[in-house]
Amino acid sequence: MRILVHGGAGRIEPEWEEAVLSGVKRARDAGWAVLASGGSALEAAVEAVRVLEDDPAFNAGTGSALNRQGFVEMDAAVMIGEGLRFGGVAAVRDVKNPILLAREVMDSEHILLSGEGASLFARERGIPRHPPEALVTERALARWQRIRRQGGRTSGTVGAVALDAQGRLAAATSTGGIVDKRVGRVGDTPLVGAGTYAEAGLGAASATGEGEFLARALVAYRAVTALKTRSPEKAADEALALARELGGQGGLILLAADGSFAAVHTSPQMSHAWRGPEGEGAGLA
Ligand code: GLY
Repeated sequence: MRILVHGGAGRIEPEWEEAVLSGVKRARDAGWAVLASGGSALEAAVEAVRVLEDDPAFNAGTGSALNRQGFVEMDAAVMIGEGLRFGGVAAVRDVKNPILLAREVMDSEHILLSGEGASLFARERGIPRHPPEALVTERALARWQRIRRQGGRTSGTVGAVALDAQGRLAAATSTGGIVDKRVGRVGDTPLVGAGTYAEAGLGAASATGEGEFLARALVAYRAVTALKTRSPEKAADEALALARELGGQGGLILLAADGSFAAVHTSPQMSHAWRGPEGEGAGLA
């Protein structure tokens, strides 16, 4: 069994380091508790991401980045290795936990729902409307105002990959996307193989960083596929190197079917935490 989570690539402001580190540890522990009580890799990854979405220290759920018109639009996805099953939501505005909605999409006839359609589907599945303004935090507002004043490109995402006692693999990713993005912009997170990917017997990956480049490099799929011949670290490094060649920074957590794993980034930092049979770890670099 193993759980590995990330809290996003980028530069973490020093005053937020403690909150971010304790946040990824809390999410890791929540995911591990699910695995330890016999839960599936999917349940564990979703629970870890749900905890991160509810933590305002991260760019997902509450605390998400604001778009060009000053409101939140979130992307999220889940994938399991068995049957390559996938569910995602894009540019959704009024749910508290997009990852729970993505989970529902996986159990529908579709793989990806966006905007108003995703909201309608949420109500159908009993997920209540969450006031969009309740997702906006002071920190996200200040960051948006700063980017609008000074320019720059800031993203951040949360994600988890898990391996359960039955050897099943799952990946889950959630994000508010790039700060000051155009309304309707969708990044790598909810695209199969771009920000989120899992394949039975091989591995699971969740990406973070500049979505346009990560998606063109299909980093999650590329890294998982490379596990056929590479160590997790090498596989993740090579996938991110392609995104960097294209012009984008990012990070990746990658978990192989044998439990080996890597947390790598080309961005200045990437918060992450993991737990497995041999112990646990966490870091900001
Ligand atoms: N990687 C998150 C995004 O670009 O939306």
